[in-house]
Amino acid sequence: MPTLLVTGGCGFIGSNFVRHLLATDPATQIINFDALTYAGNLANLTDVVKHPRYTFVRGDVTDREQVRAAMGRGVTDVIHFAAESHVDRSIQDSGPFLKTNVIGTQVLLDAAREFGVKRYVQVSTDEVYGSLGDTGLFTEHTPLHPNSPYSASKAAADLLVQAYQHTFGLHAVITRCSNNYGPYQFPEKLIPLFVSNLLADQQVPVYGDGMQVRDWIHVLDHCRGVEAAWRKGRSGEVYNFGGRCEKANLHLTHLLLELLGKPKSLIKYVADRLGHDRRYAIDCTKAERELGWAPQVPFETGLRETIEWYRANAAWVAAIKNKDYLAYYEKQYGGR
Ligand code: NAD
Ligand code: TYD
Repeated sequence: MPTLLVTGGCGFIGSNFVRHLLATDPATQIINFDALTYAGNLANLTDVVKHPRYTFVRGDVTDREQVRAAMGRGVTDVIHFAAESHVDRSIQDSGPFLKTNVIGTQVLLDAAREFGVKRYVQVSTDEVYGSLGDTGLFTEHTPLHPNSPYSASKAAADLLVQAYQHTFGLHAVITRCSNNYGPYQFPEKLIPLFVSNLLADQQVPVYGDGMQVRDWIHVLDHCRGVEAAWRKGRSGEVYNFGGRCEKANLHLTHLLLELLGKPKSLIKYVADRLGHDRRYAIDCTKAERELGWAPQVPFETGLRETIEWYRANAAWVAAIKNKDYLAYYEKQYGGR
């Protein structure tokens, strides 16, 4: 029976992945290794906490001894989700991004070697490719051109993974996915921030002219892709995942207003993000061809379900948007 170390399993994508795998794979033990930073939330997995094939270990990927202790529990495979993940925070302070995303990956790779891990998956992002103009798509051959401290730290981690694969023969695969949406996403990212604000009749901050384009994918489609890369990915290869669903932020905002029945007056145009990438769009034909994967959730269906999830889980949102968090948010972003 494989014993899979999932790092960052208390975050948005990691928690969806853990729930998905427990429900669909009766043969894998999961150890969720998570430091519980501001983005990590035990409440994301309360429904599986007593599952016989699930164990939670609190630990930091930058702490060699904590990582070694977790690996020593018989880990055979690793899927590395844990990261600092929010671009705006990386612009405020890149320190935690370099530490967790780069050094954390190095520590994990060393431990994977030491403990003879059979398959290692690095969950990366399309943002490592930089920004597109009005046309074109990112392929796995697009040169790395990260523009934010977040994407630079993720690109650095990808290069380390490739170096460990090449130098030490570690079986390692890298996945690069576009913007995810779905349940349990921390309400600092566009869709959960806007949905939760609009549900409370609060304004939504659109950066700059709002014409930046993102390629949206439902989190479960991403999780199925990561699973396929883990099971079938060829060592040393990169696989892109995307939803074939390009939307300008402003158009997405209008759609959210419409679905929630809220007025356009709730849009607040604010100063643009520094160095804001204009457009991301993914060519995912390699993953379709080699992994037999394809995005399945139609955007409007997934978006409606996500809105309903946030409506039904107002207490989850409220616990996050508490007084301390709001004070932090106001301090960091209030001046926009
Ligand atoms: P998230 O911010 O919601 O969750 C990150 C998780 O990692 C949290 O549970 C946090 O506690 C944990 N963590 C952070 N630092 C840690 C450390 N030092 N040690 C152990 N755990 C730590 O992030 P997410 O949106 O779920 O993203 C997960 C991964 O997917 C990241 O690697 C991210 O770069 C990548 N990704 C995200 C998206 C997206 O749209 N959200 C798209 C493509 C790729
Ligand atoms: P985000 O969810 O932070 O993801 P990423 O920056 O990783 O793509 O942002 C998605 C897009 O929405 C991005 O172009 C920035 C924009 N945005 C806003 O206009 N307002 C906001 O409050 C946020 C959080 C994002």
